Amino acid sequence: MKVEDVLKKARTQMGPNCKSCPICNGRACGNTMPGPGAKGTGTVAIHNYDAWQNIELNMDTLCENVEADTTFSLFGKTFQYPIFAGPVGHVELHYGDKYDDQVYNHILVRGCHQAGIAAFTGDGMNADTMKVACQSIKENEGIGIPTIKPWNEQVYLEKLEMVKEAGAFAVAMDVDAAGLPFLKGIVPPAGRKTEKELQAIIEKTPMPFIVKGIMTVKGAYKAWRAGASAIVVSNHGGRVLDGCAPTAEVLPEIVRAIDGRIPILVDGGIRTGVDVFRALALGADGVLIARPFVNMVYGAQEEGIQALVDKLGSELKDTMEMCGAKDLQSIHKDMIRLK
Ligand SMILES: Cc1cc2nc3c(=O)[nH]c(=O)nc-3n(C[C@H](O)[C@H](O)[C@H](O)COP(=O)(O)O)c2cc1C
Repeated sequence: MKVEDVLKKARTQMGPNCKSCPICNGRACGNTMPGPGAKGTGTVAIHNYDAWQNIELNMDTLCENVEADTTFSLFGKTFQYPIFAGPVGHVELHYGDKYDDQVYNHILVRGCHQAGIAAFTGDGMNADTMKVACQSIKENEGIGIPTIKPWNEQVYLEKLEMVKEAGAFAVAMDVDAAGLPFLKGIVPPAGRKTEKELQAIIEKTPMPFIVKGIMTVKGAYKAWRAGASAIVVSNHGGRVLDGCAPTAEVLPEIVRAIDGRIPILVDGGIRTGVDVFRALALGADGVLIARPFVNMVYGAQEEGIQALVDKLGSELKDTMEMCGAKDLQSIHKDMIRLK
């Protein structure tokens, strides 16, 4: 099955807010929230996508004629590509009632594991979301990353028990979810955290802890000092702060500041294997892709996931071979130029 066919099918399976566009660039959904759009003017998701397109590739085929190796390792696990499915919560509300979060995450975790990558799972107001996501991760040899909302420590620790029981190889927290309208003023409280509060949580976490939602050098240092094992440079796809910079623009300064101390992942408008290459050439270790995986699940479940992973993987491999990178470590900033 081809990605285009899955998208066509998904168009008949989703609610009115997502148009299942050929290219998911934030333009058709604009500021629809509920829906897959972005906050306020709705332009941050569009800018995320556009920023990758401003990076051009330097072709160089005068190099060894070998097949590019896309193998990627994180925290002792090896994956076929440096690509993760990003967490998406409340799919029923945003994408239509064909799936709820439990079924969505179940398909996502299994489909990604079968395709040789891993999925981050989302969290929300329904306590069963984390419970079922963790069960799915357990059934898939711990290959999945539960992403816990920035609840207070007590709620975090309750959810962490499920993560431990699942044997998940890592856990994440989307600290930027503090900007989601539905988390404002709720009980139990969820929101911003001081470096000390984050550190206290990380100290009680036995597996690698990934901080998702870093957009500044200052934020990256705070996450690293607090004990993060990795960060995700992300503005939550524009859903938490209107007027935010595109992730491709802030990534290089964060890479320079962190200087290889911990892995850096990035998301926001990454849609092709060429975009994955661009992100790695800017210094990211790997990427998350969120919205397009939802379309794949709604259109053709695990088969859709496989189609997207195959497409992204072959595009990445082709780009590496045409730019003279024999493996991920060889991807270098001199292989790209800014328009
Ligand atoms: C409908 C929707 C729900 C999301 N829910 C979550 C979530 O529960 N946790 C999280 O960390 N990120 C969540 N995100 C953000 C994504 O993981 C990702 O950071 C963002 O969409 C940018 O990636 P993309 O442009 O590839 O979609 C959500 C995004 C969307 C569109």
